[in-house]
Amino acid sequence: MFSSAPVSTPQHLRRRSLSARTATILDRVARDLAARLGTITAPGLAAAVDARMAELPAEVAEAVRPPGDDGAVIIDGLGVDDAELGPTPTGWQEAEAAGLGFVMILLLLARSAGQPFGWRNQQRGRIVNTIIPAPGQEHTQTGAGSTVPLAPHTEDAFHPRRAGLIMLGCLRNPDRVGTTVASVRRIRLDHDQRRLLAEPTLPILPDDSYGTAPDPEHEVPVPALWEGPDGPTLRFDPAYTPLDRAESHYRAAYDELTAELDRVSVAAALAPGELLVIDNDVAVHGRVPFTARYDGTDRWLQRVNVRLPDRPRRPAEAAETGYGEQVVEPFGGR
Ligand SMILES: [Fe+2]
Repeated sequence: MFSSAPVSTPQHLRRRSLSARTATILDRVARDLAARLGTITAPGLAAAVDARMAELPAEVAEAVRPPGDDGAVIIDGLGVDDAELGPTPTGWQEAEAAGLGFVMILLLLARSAGQPFGWRNQQRGRIVNTIIPAPGQEHTQTGAGSTVPLAPHTEDAFHPRRAGLIMLGCLRNPDRVGTTVASVRRIRLDHDQRRLLAEPTLPILPDDSYGTAPDPEHEVPVPALWEGPDGPTLRFDPAYTPLDRAESHYRAAYDELTAELDRVSVAAALAPGELLVIDNDVAVHGRVPFTARYDGTDRWLQRVNVRLPDRPRRPAEAAETGYGEQVVEPFGGR
């Protein structure tokens, strides 16, 4: 069974530790899959993963259950052998076989949680995305940026089929660069602010990692914060929200939401082998600024989006087009 470390202050994320036995089983199955498939883009990836799921101890599914009102949890107990990894890739395009053993562990955990999926126009539909600093993109608000803080955001907030959970696996983080998480269930806002933010007021535009200019015809105003079936729920990406279109009282409430999320934000410097599981409806995530090395030893994360089949979304979202962005769902959709 996993153990949960006590939380003494809200400055720390909770942890769930996998047992050595479970880590060994995951490592064995993942190495088999990596050897057989060779790359993350191999045809038959989903079927090969699904064929091995029954071998995983029940502890795995328990460890990846949604993190509750904290909005995020760190899973530890897994290892990464730095010597085996090779250099950090310098572009996602060349990362399709890099760190594949750990990538397969990440995918096994993601599959235990729900349905891993990708986006057709993000890293060419890969089910596991590579987060590494990219030369020339230091100032972008995407996973390829570095020298500017990545503002807290809901992953793929622009899309009605965004992930329920996102999982970030750490392969390398020598400078202990912090990933930030802030739970909307820890903030304080008054009734009027919450009422304003629940009004569908502004659209959220696709982020730069999709590489295409959004068509204004697809824009739909959405709420930023509302009361979901199990508590306050968030859809928030200020870097891609045209706040200048809103009236001042809405902007003031939005600014207060931003300030509150900042106040409750927790930074986790992930260590190799650690996984951060974020509830994408409850918490926003970001990254502190850092200086990229570009020498093969850079910070290196892998990310998987996971759909939770039992997680309802606002019925109104069913009518959104998501700017035409298509999901890639080899593990099934709904
Ligand atoms: Fe993100």
